[in-house]
Amino acid sequence: MSQLRGDYKSVWTSLSTTKEDAYMVVSGYTDEDKFTADAEDTLDIIRETIGVRPTDTFLEIGCGVGRVGRVLSPFVQEWIGCDVSPNMLGIAKRRLLGLTNTRLQEVSGYDLQPIPDNSVDAVYTTVVFMHLEEWDRYNYVLEAKRVLKPSGRFYCDNVDLASKEGWKVFEESRTKFPAQSRPAQISKCSTQPELEAFLKNAGFADVRVAGRLDFWAYAWGAKPAS
Ligand SMILES: C[S@@+](CC[C@H](N)C(=O)[O-])C[C@H]1O[C@@H](n2cnc3c(N)ncnc32)[C@H](O)[C@@H]1O
Repeated sequence: MSQLRGDYKSVWTSLSTTKEDAYMVVSGYTDEDKFTADAEDTLDIIRETIGVRPTDTFLEIGCGVGRVGRVLSPFVQEWIGCDVSPNMLGIAKRRLLGLTNTRLQEVSGYDLQPIPDNSVDAVYTTVVFMHLEEWDRYNYVLEAKRVLKPSGRFYCDNVDLASKEGWKVFEESRTKFPAQSRPAQISKCSTQPELEAFLKNAGFADVRVAGRLDFWAYAWGAKPAS
């Protein structure tokens, strides 16, 4: 029987049984240099939106093999990578060897349960929302708010349905896969207004949205100070 999109643990554990498979599903290639260069780009966006401070505890939702964690962790106090797939976390553990301020945490796929309330300075999630149902995206926005300290910052992104390249992604999936045979991890786009609505309804302040490369939509905001 085909896997259900919402059964994230089963879907993503089976997609990451080898390092090569995990890299392919995270980025579409296995070239370590390109992997690092792309991670630097993501780090730049995080710097430009929510900022990176040496005293920060950062948490990533859906950290995969630690692509971003490896380049971000040298600039912060602590980096916590959460992922639904124990296989992804196993590969991340080997990639992050020696980076003593990193920590990995398996999660259920629907929440950040093991992480205490008001305990981290910044939460981000990148290249993950396209794999989640809309309700589960919003549940993670709520969870981010719960685990953030007052004034803590949150960033999320997705492919933008309203962008030229995002529309291509939509059309490619629509025409490539008949309704009955869509893969469980097929990418589903967002829009800037969707992300903005999630952050505002979750109670984030100073909510901002932007687009990039005619492909990405991203949003960021801060937990109110009190
Ligand atoms: C495309 S990869 C991106 C990984 C990483 N964020 C990066 O940019 O390199 C998507 C990741 O999200 C994880 N994931 C999928 N569904 C999840 C869920 N419901 N909760 C937490 N992680 C999830 C997958 O296991 C995978 O590691």
